[in-house]
This record gives sequence, C-alpha cells and structure tokens, in this order.
Amino acid sequence: MIINGPNLNLLGKREPEMYGSKTFEDYFIELQEKFEDCNLEYFQSNIEGELIGKIQEVGFSYDGIILNAAAYTHTSVGIGDAVKAVETPVVEVHISNTHKREDFRHVSYISSGAKGVILGFGLQSYNLAIQSFLG
Ligand code: DQA
Repeated sequence: MIINGPNLNLLGKREPEMYGSKTFEDYFIELQEKFEDCNLEYFQSNIEGELIGKIQEVGFSYDGIILNAAAYTHTSVGIGDAVKAVETPVVEVHISNTHKREDFRHVSYISSGAKGVILGFGLQSYNLAIQSFLG
C-alpha cells in the first residue's frame, strides 16, 4: 500500500522544479506495469486522520506500507504513533532530499518507527521502496 499525504495529489502541477512534472496517477501505472507480480494499491489524503485511519486499516494484514506523509512528516505525532502501532513494516519515502531543504524538514516523526527511509531520488524513491520489500 502506497500512502501519500497532503498536496501530493497536486504532483505534476506543484513546484515541478522540486517534484517533477508527472502526476502520481501516471507514475502509479508505471509502477504497476513494472511490478506486475505485486498487488499495489495507492491512497492519498490531505487529512491527517484519514492517513492514520488507512495505516490502521491495512497495518495488520498488508505486506508493506510505503508512506510519504509529506508535510505531516515534520509535524504529526499521531502519524508517527500509528506507524509504531501497526505490525506491517513501513518504509518512509520522500521525493526530494529533505535534508538539503529548510531546517524544519530535517525533522521526521515517522523515521523512528520506519523500517527504513528513502529520499531524494524523485519519484524513483517509490520504486526503490518497493524493491526494498522484494529483497
Ligand atoms: C515531501 C517533502 C516534504 O517536506 C514536503 O512537505 C512534501 C513532500 C517529499 O516527498 O519530498 O510535501 O514529503
């Protein structure tokens, strides 16, 4: 399950110099084609509680969660707690290298509960996260 947080529904239009010019929907089709043996699903929400709800919903039965909590990465104790609460391993991803950006983006409430973190490779970060589950 790929879970994207706030404003990632605007990929393709949003700051393309930072996040690229492809929509996530188009990229998700490429991922499905590349990993045709995986049952990939995708969920996006701009609402913190909906992201927590989805982590709880899938977090005891799915093989893996790939989470880009976007801006909530840097603010949300609730999402961080949800990541720690579930059994399904969570890989944290970011499109940009958050450590090269503003100081507030250097803090993550997700990382301490995550299996691992992949950031800075553009949309390819999601591809690498899937590969990390396949071993
Ligand atoms: C992001 C980085 C966050 O700091 C930012 O708020 C986002 C996207 C990334 O994928 O690079 O919305 O998570």
